[in-house]
Amino acid sequence: MLTPITRVALAAALAVAVAGPTAAAPRKKAPERGYYDVTRMAPLTDQKGDPVKGRDLVVKKGLCLSCHQMPIPEEADHGDVGPTLDEVGSRLQPAELRLRIVDPKIINPDTPMPSFYKKELHRVAKKYEGQTILTAQEVEDVVAYLATLK
Ligand code: HEC
Repeated sequence: MLTPITRVALAAALAVAVAGPTAAAPRKKAPERGYYDVTRMAPLTDQKGDPVKGRDLVVKKGLCLSCHQMPIPEEADHGDVGPTLDEVGSRLQPAELRLRIVDPKIINPDTPMPSFYKKELHRVAKKYEGQTILTAQEVEDVVAYLATLK
């Protein structure tokens, strides 16, 4: 026969087994938007970037073509303020690409290129305050697209 103490211990063990470990340890909080750990240079999201969405974002949201030549022939106007990105995927690793999208001022404080994942939007309409130009997932999509340019 089970002693009362053993019975309590068994019940507790069963409760943990049923609830699973996640009930005990709260889920890790996602980092705040605009936060990037430059010492890790890790992807910003668990979901892999989508190069097709990235290509679209580069044209419509990043306005990257205003400064860069890219292999996007359906767009007529490509700027040359920045270097051509035609083969940037063979020059730079995804982590290096990510750093340049998140905050190129880390590499060159005088660059005219905007920091796409940094909260530096000031004096903008209220709804944009504290926002970043791209979301974490959009940064990953753009990086995935650039990595295909070889
Ligand atoms: C206002 C102009 C401007 C815009 C807009 C801009 N860039 Fe840049 N970018 C530059 C310049 C200039 C450089 C050269 C590096 C520097 O200034 O330090 C550069 C460098 C880069 C590099 C590094 C290239 C290399 O060969 O080292 C990448 C990658 C890049 N940009 C991607 C992008 C993407 C993707 C976008 C859009 C999401 C974008 N840029 C938008 C001006 C711009």
